[in-house]
Amino acid sequence: MRIYDIILKKRYGEELTDEEIEFFVTNASKGDIENYQITALLMAICFNGMTERETATLTMCMARSGDIVDLSSIDGYTVDKHSTGGVGDKTTLIVAPIVAALGGKVAKMSGRGLGHTGGTVDKLESIEGFQTTLSGDAFLSQVNRIGLSVIGQSGDLAPADKKLYALRNDTATVDSIPLIASSIMSKKLAAGSKGIVLDVKTGSGAFMKSVEESVALAKAMVKIGKAAGRDTVAVITDMDIPLGNAVGNSLEVIEAVETLKGNGCEDLTTVCLELAANMLTLVTGKDKASCLEMAKGAIADGSALRKLREMVEAQGGNPTWIDNTELFPKAEFTYEIKAQADGYISFMNAEKIGVSSLLLGAGRNTNKDVLDFTAGIILNKKTGDKVMAGDVLATLYTNTESKIPAAAKKFNEALVISSDPVKKQPLIYLTVN
Ligand code: URA
Repeated sequence: MRIYDIILKKRYGEELTDEEIEFFVTNASKGDIENYQITALLMAICFNGMTERETATLTMCMARSGDIVDLSSIDGYTVDKHSTGGVGDKTTLIVAPIVAALGGKVAKMSGRGLGHTGGTVDKLESIEGFQTTLSGDAFLSQVNRIGLSVIGQSGDLAPADKKLYALRNDTATVDSIPLIASSIMSKKLAAGSKGIVLDVKTGSGAFMKSVEESVALAKAMVKIGKAAGRDTVAVITDMDIPLGNAVGNSLEVIEAVETLKGNGCEDLTTVCLELAANMLTLVTGKDKASCLEMAKGAIADGSALRKLREMVEAQGGNPTWIDNTELFPKAEFTYEIKAQADGYISFMNAEKIGVSSLLLGAGRNTNKDVLDFTAGIILNKKTGDKVMAGDVLATLYTNTESKIPAAAKKFNEALVISSDPVKKQPLIYLTVN
């Protein structure tokens, strides 16, 4: 078998056999296929797509390229959640404790920030002492003891995806449905949970910009999950507007704690309750409406907040920072973005707001960049809101004053203010199962 022939076949839009896909993944992982040949095939897949069978085979080959986590020693129903990535998306910090407080076993491996999108591991590391690397035994025993652990992805989880993803990032081949579906699902299958709830984002801050594309991605991922014997559900949620009011690592942890205290803003609370209810449906077998009430109850009675505190303490973090979020260090410099005219915010480009936060120090331009955990943005106004000239629309936070002008410019580019009132858009579009 020759990689040249496989590239040519896909270039002509033909279907690859399981053996050809396996040959590609195995040899690409071993370094036996040149990067230019890997990227040629990835580009051909972007143009010509893959059938369901090809996508499922690619996913399974990538999942098997490294460790498959064995969660069988966990007593109870293991459930995972994955977001396709967004701005201000701190849902894991809220949803995972809710579900664990209600009996679900959440053994979660999360990622770091990617491009304009934030990552749960970076957020958790903004809590003093919090360890995102645990040994396999410590991870499993914590989940058995308290029902919850969130750690960083081990280097050996789907290493083939790691290699392909890095090349896709550099060759404009990220936004292809079979490539995204196989990339995400290979890691979810390797991470071992029985139930998987996928939060598929749609809009300007997401990889999929339209609802139609997001539904197609959701369907592809749900099919792969079910074919692999996992209970899989996808919820399409809005990412045209950043989620919640905080963007940036410690700012988002503080907002997550406030949400678990019942003081969260409406959009963030609604999306979190919807995701938690879907996870609880898998865990308990009860209907969605009952699970929604249970999730609300875990916020109201404080059990979900106590579960977050328990996880922080178990992983070496300082739990008093959860009791009193004033203990999080504050950025040295702040800058207010003010409205230039009266009107209504008719559009906020979530991706540009994510980039503005990155420019303040909350994200990385390269792997070597060190994060400023205090950096980010607090939004006072969002799409649909009425504003008067001089109103503070947002406050920027950073420890490096020289970063403010570029970040403020990017933030202003993200906003469109119009004179006519604007209709609010849906937060939750549909569920695919
Ligand atoms: N997240 C992933 O893990 N992979 C993709 O391809 C896109 C988003």
